[in-house]
Amino acid sequence: MTGATGNVGRHVVDQLLAAGAAVRALTRDPAGARLPAEAEVVEGDLTRPETVEPALKGVSALFLFPAPGTAGPVLRAARECGVRRVVLLSSSAVEFDTEGSDDAIVAYHKEIERQVETSGLEWTFVRPGAFAVNTLQWAPQIRAGGVVRGAYAGAEMSLIHERDIADVAARVLLTEGHAGAKYVLTGPESLTQAEQARRIGEAVGRPVRYEELTPEAAREQMIENRVPAEFADMLLTFQAGLVGVPADVSPGVEEITGRPARTFDQWCADHVADFR
Ligand SMILES: NC(=O)c1ccc[n+]([C@@H]2O[C@H](COP(=O)([O-])OP(=O)(O)OC[C@H]3O[C@@H](n4cnc5c(N)ncnc54)[C@H](OP(=O)(O)O)[C@@H]3O)[C@@H](O)[C@H]2O)c1
Repeated sequence: MTGATGNVGRHVVDQLLAAGAAVRALTRDPAGARLPAEAEVVEGDLTRPETVEPALKGVSALFLFPAPGTAGPVLRAARECGVRRVVLLSSSAVEFDTEGSDDAIVAYHKEIERQVETSGLEWTFVRPGAFAVNTLQWAPQIRAGGVVRGAYAGAEMSLIHERDIADVAARVLLTEGHAGAKYVLTGPESLTQAEQARRIGEAVGRPVRYEELTPEAAREQMIENRVPAEFADMLLTFQAGLVGVPADVSPGVEEITGRPARTFDQWCADHVADFR
C-alpha cells in the first residue's frame, strides 16, 4: 500500500485487513502514520525509488498512489520483485482530456496510467471524480461564521466519499476479473457548490451559505491561502465549465461493490466533527 496514510489509502488498509489480507503500508513517516497495529508499516518515499524497492519483496498486489513523476522505477522494481497486480489511484480527469490540454493534473495522471499500462503487470485504474473531502478546505470559514466564500456557486459536482473509492480499490486488489479495467467513480448526485455548503450546515446543525466571489477575488483569496497561482487558475477554469451543467453520475461504485455510492449527506454526517 502506497499512499496508505491518505484519505483513500487509510480506508483501503482497513478494508484489506478486515478481509484477512496481510498489508504492508509505506509511509515517509512511520512514527506519525497512525496505521492499525495489524499492518506492517515500512518507511519509504515514492520520490526515492530505492527506498520503496525493499518494501515490494513478497508483495502480490500493489496499490499505487500517483505521486507525480514517481511511477516508472517503482513499477520496474515491482515487476522484478514478482508483484502480479497493480491498482492505480488515478482520476476521472483523464476521461475528459481534450487533445493538447495543458492541464497539469490531467497530464500527470495520463503519464502514470501510460507507465502502468506498459509495466507488464496486471493493472486496473480507479478513476474517481472530485472527492467530497475537498470541501474540508471550507472548514475554517464554516467554523468562523458559516459563510463559505468562493467562485462559481453554481458549479456542479457529483462528489465521491473516500470510503467508496477505498471499497472499490480493496475489491479490485483482492479479487479476480478486473484486469485492464478503467473504473470511473463518482458520488450518486450532482450538487452545486452552494448546495454542498448548505448540506454541510444541515449536518453540523447551523446554517452555512455560499457567498459567490468574482473569479478574480476568489483567485486572490486562494493565493493568500498559499494555493499556487497556476493551480488556482486551473481550478477556476475547471469550475467555470461546471456552472449549470449537471455532473455525470457513474454507476461504478454500485457495479463493483454491489451497493449504491454513499450520498454527500452521508459524507457530511461522517465528517461533522471536522466542521465544528
Ligand atoms: N481530490 C480530488 O478531488 C481527486 C480527484 C480525482 C483523483 N484524485 C487523486 O487522488 C489523490 C489524493 O488521494 P488522497 O486524498 O487519498 O491522498 P492524500 O490524503 O493527499 O494522501 C496521500 C498520501 O500519499 C503519501 N505520499 C504522498 N507523496 C508521497 C511520496 N512522495 N512518497 C510516498 N508517499 C507519498 C502520503 O503519505 P505519507 O505522508 O505517510 O508518506 C499521503 O498520506 C490525488 O493526488 C489525485 O491523484 C483526487
